Amino acid sequence: MMLERHIPLDGHETPYLYGVDCGIALAEALAARTGSADSVLLVADRKVAAHTAPLARQLSHHVKVETFGIDASETNKTMSLVQGIAESAISRGVNRSSLVIGMGGGMVGNVAGLTAALLFRGTGLIHLPTTPVAAFDSVVSVKQAVNLRGGKNLCGTYYAPSLIACDLRWLSTVPHEELFTGLSEMAKNVLAVLPGEEETLRGALSALPGERIGPLLQLFDIGVTAKEPFLRQDPRERREALIFEYGHTVGHALEFISGGSMKHGEAVAWGMLVAAEVSHSLGILGGEDLRSHYRIVDWLRLPDPRTRLGRFDRAELRAKLATDNKRGYIPCGRDEVAMVLLESLGGPLTGESGYPLVPVPQETVMAALETVTGHSWTERGGTIGEKEDARWKTSNLL
Ligand SMILES: NC(=O)c1ccc[n+]([C@@H]2O[C@H](COP(=O)([O-])OP(=O)(O)OC[C@H]3O[C@@H](n4cnc5c(N)ncnc54)[C@H](O)[C@@H]3O)[C@@H](O)[C@H]2O)c1
Repeated sequence: MMLERHIPLDGHETPYLYGVDCGIALAEALAARTGSADSVLLVADRKVAAHTAPLARQLSHHVKVETFGIDASETNKTMSLVQGIAESAISRGVNRSSLVIGMGGGMVGNVAGLTAALLFRGTGLIHLPTTPVAAFDSVVSVKQAVNLRGGKNLCGTYYAPSLIACDLRWLSTVPHEELFTGLSEMAKNVLAVLPGEEETLRGALSALPGERIGPLLQLFDIGVTAKEPFLRQDPRERREALIFEYGHTVGHALEFISGGSMKHGEAVAWGMLVAAEVSHSLGILGGEDLRSHYRIVDWLRLPDPRTRLGRFDRAELRAKLATDNKRGYIPCGRDEVAMVLLESLGGPLTGESGYPLVPVPQETVMAALETVTGHSWTERGGTIGEKEDARWKTSNLL
């Protein structure tokens, strides 16, 4: 089964081919789109070699495939990796008619995307996402960036793929905990944009351990449906679409200082709870909506916040918050942090800029973080920390 949707990316309707057990059909569709290219540069996560190999074999019947394997980690998401890929591409005869294909999670997608944007001042780009974060969120965007020593995604550009393709079966090898926490971007979409889809999200997440195809297709829909209208209005996600940065101010800081041990999805989930606590403490978000955050985030089966959040050095966290890449969108004082806050589920607080970003005192953010780290989950309607061990340690889901 192979389905097709069109995603508005930088003014074009980019085809997104997806389905389950459709890898060979996808490879054929890719081959048909290589056009005059005599080679493709396949930038691939080393951990997905089992998925990459059949696709590369099929593709190589039509075009020369040069593969560059990547260890996907946040510390490796750098300009020097992009340069290394570009140097290797040139030495292997890749030319300006070649295509760059990124196959892996969000890290590989961003690195391949930035390489494609820079190589020959722009070559064709195809995304083949293999994680929930990538398939349902990061490839549905033209933001391509790598990290600097100062923080996450500080160096990059906007660049659209000409095609996105995903066999949802590729997601089946993502470890259990990463699959669930990776779906936090979908929890974000429900909390910040589509609260009416709460029941669909709950159903899909609770069905996932047994059933596969239906839930993943539903989650795909939540990802794309939430983003589509925003991408039409604000393709570069600098105005209205900043709503998708919900949970990302604190999330990015946590992910970065963890040195990769806390994955993007988990970090964003904690970041959303912190944002909700900030909003509640400022009298903006009501208690019922705050509890909804805990209820929904609880479905992601996070580990115990006391151990996950308690271990971070607070001074380091403050320093990282001070370099968050959203500061430049709005004026922020030295001790303020730019955040997306909600007034209600699906209702962002609009700042003076007219966009969903407001300055928040760093003290308020840190106090909210302490509440999330040490709160009583049952009081907030969650169960995390009570049964997390059994759920967290179960191996692959699918
Ligand atoms: N708009 C955007 O550009 C955007 C949006 C969201 C996230 N991101 C970026 O995406 C990254 C996070 O993405 P992610 O969560 O996919 O992380 P990731 O790419 O780092 O992958 C997470 C881990 O899963 C492994 N992996 C990938 N696919 C696998 C598979 N099918 N089976 C087994 N293991 C697999 C990777 O090797 C890695 O160890 C961050 O760098 C974040 O900044 C970008």
